[in-house]
Amino acid sequence: MQEPPDSIQQISLTAPPWTDDNESIATQETHPGYALQMHQAESFINELLARADARPASGSLLQYLCLIQRQYSCIPETTVHVLAERLSIPASQVFSVIDFYTFLHRTPRGDFDILFSNNITDRMLGSQALFGRLCQILHVEPGVPRADGRVTVDWTSCTGLCDQGPGMLVNGIAVSSLDEKRINEIAEQVENKTPLKQWPADWFEIKDNIQRRDILLSDQIVNGSAIEALINKGAENLLQAIEQSGLRGRGGAGFPTAKKWRFCRDTKADDYYVVCNADEGEPGTFKDRVLLNSYADNLFEGMTVCAGIIGAKKGYLYLRGEYLYLREALEETLQQRRQSGLLGNNILGQEGFDFDIDIHLGAGAYICGEESALLESLEGKRGIPRKRPPYPVNQGLFGKPTVINNVETFINAAKIAVFGADWLRAAGTEQSAGTKLLSISGDCERPGIYEYPFGTSVSQILADCGAADTQAVQVAGAAGTTLTADAFERSICFEDLATGGSFMVFNQQRELLAMVKNFSDFFRHESCGFCTPCRVGGALINDLVNKVMVGHATQLDLEEMKNIGSLMQQASHCGLGATAPNAVLQTLEKFPDIYTARLANRSFEPAFDIDAALAPSRKITRRDDPGAHIAYEPEQSSKP
Ligand SMILES: Cc1cc2nc3c(=O)[nH]c(=O)nc-3n(C[C@H](O)[C@H](O)[C@H](O)COP(=O)(O)O)c2cc1C
Ligand code: SF4
Repeated sequence: MQEPPDSIQQISLTAPPWTDDNESIATQETHPGYALQMHQAESFINELLARADARPASGSLLQYLCLIQRQYSCIPETTVHVLAERLSIPASQVFSVIDFYTFLHRTPRGDFDILFSNNITDRMLGSQALFGRLCQILHVEPGVPRADGRVTVDWTSCTGLCDQGPGMLVNGIAVSSLDEKRINEIAEQVENKTPLKQWPADWFEIKDNIQRRDILLSDQIVNGSAIEALINKGAENLLQAIEQSGLRGRGGAGFPTAKKWRFCRDTKADDYYVVCNADEGEPGTFKDRVLLNSYADNLFEGMTVCAGIIGAKKGYLYLRGEYLYLREALEETLQQRRQSGLLGNNILGQEGFDFDIDIHLGAGAYICGEESALLESLEGKRGIPRKRPPYPVNQGLFGKPTVINNVETFINAAKIAVFGADWLRAAGTEQSAGTKLLSISGDCERPGIYEYPFGTSVSQILADCGAADTQAVQVAGAAGTTLTADAFERSICFEDLATGGSFMVFNQQRELLAMVKNFSDFFRHESCGFCTPCRVGGALINDLVNKVMVGHATQLDLEEMKNIGSLMQQASHCGLGATAPNAVLQTLEKFPDIYTARLANRSFEPAFDIDAALAPSRKITRRDDPGAHIAYEPEQSSKP
């Protein structure tokens, strides 16, 4: 079992990358990451661990690695060995963690590490052309640091900027609303070695973009009022209120929140944990970004109420690496809450009510949104989903009972504490009480955040966001449901269309196969690789989608996609693999024409060219006569 860190916030990445320590832009030749001597690595790691102000904890491994990466733009091998020795873990474990997370690297990236968001909605807004343009102006090959080490330009999975895309991250910091002009200017800043701090501030402005508010976003609570309600009503009464409210998890699966908290509370242990899942990696989802930006106090209040109910002393906010730019303000909010007696020891004067929250930064791995993978990551390991049972409520973080909830769930809980169960019950449906935040993007006039009572129809939402001529809606992200126009009367709720909040709109002009390909690329990239159905099945399906795209697929390939997809759904170890083929399977059923229109004019086309593979043998034997070739008899077309 891993050792719990005492104080992650002590070593947190509080300084954003444009502060003084990032002012000097090193060049690749002088790049410290290249040839870091052992004594330099030792002194850096010593300082790092001293700043941790606690016994070195292997649970903080990922956080240490993020800091090393920020210092050297990679994790030099010498630091790996020193860190491994100090944490008493094998160096191979450290290397395996580095290799797991997309944002960590063993070799230096460019001084400006530029990552374009690769979501389909960014692509629909022209990100591909902008990516090509930037590479061209800067003379860089995608994904490869320029020879002088100045810059790397690459892709990354959805950055959660779909309402104001195309988006990118520069040294981890989000830049939105890209267009040709901005790309030219960014290239200029890079060539001039302008420190990020001096880039125009408005490039980094990320708007909340709230288009529709309902009870969650409108009804305000005073800081501390939910904690006061807990103290006044008592833990059991408040838990009952949450039970009566019918609150269900907003991360997608909709598990009853009070039940989860009760299971955790009823598990006998000496320590309990509260974890907020702010990984928000589902393509097309960005509502937690807004909640973290403008409703952080409510979130921390909800986590504190949960801690009071289950008896936790420690909480973690697992913040996706893509939201690094939100971290400083979140740390400030935590600090203010400590100063106001809303966190720390004896909260609001209650003897023994001790609770504090640390922020843990992710490093670019969608799978870490899956709760058990998230716990592994919090323990400083690779984000490989755990076998369940045991469930986190019984055996979670560091083996202790743990509640994990989505950002939106905790905020709802805080408000129920103040306004009561009926506040939530008044909105929504019998099985889905309250409202849902939707992140709307794609082909509509007004993308952004929309809060709706559960039970609202897709057609209503499309009308509100200014979508016309809609061909399809993708609800719940890449792993979700693809809706055809005849299903637009279906509604957003757990009994019909359950969703974590992603709502992507595609009009009639869109090539839906591009969406399928984008999602299939995404899942191939994001598979953690632990189990064969997802690792291999995802790659095979992706190859077949690509075969369809280039016009070489046949009917047999489509059947093969269905077989592989169904196997993945049944045999994958976790929800990622089980849902990865959804878009392929659903579009094969609901939009068969997008496939058949691209089929090769044969019922079978070999995926492997045996004749071409024999070319080297022919060369060696100096034969090129017809007998040295595999004869290929094209079959009769199965199509009329
Ligand atoms: C691949 C995968 C990714 C997930 N990503 C997230 C995420 O980013 N945020 C989230 O809250 N839940 C995510 N979940 C669901 C979590 O496992 C978990 O159910 C959720 O955090 C529980 O919180 P809730 O009950 O408040 O919804 C994901 C699940 C899977 C399988
Ligand atoms: S289904 Fe995919 S993501 Fe989940 S454990 Fe298997 S390989 Fe990893």
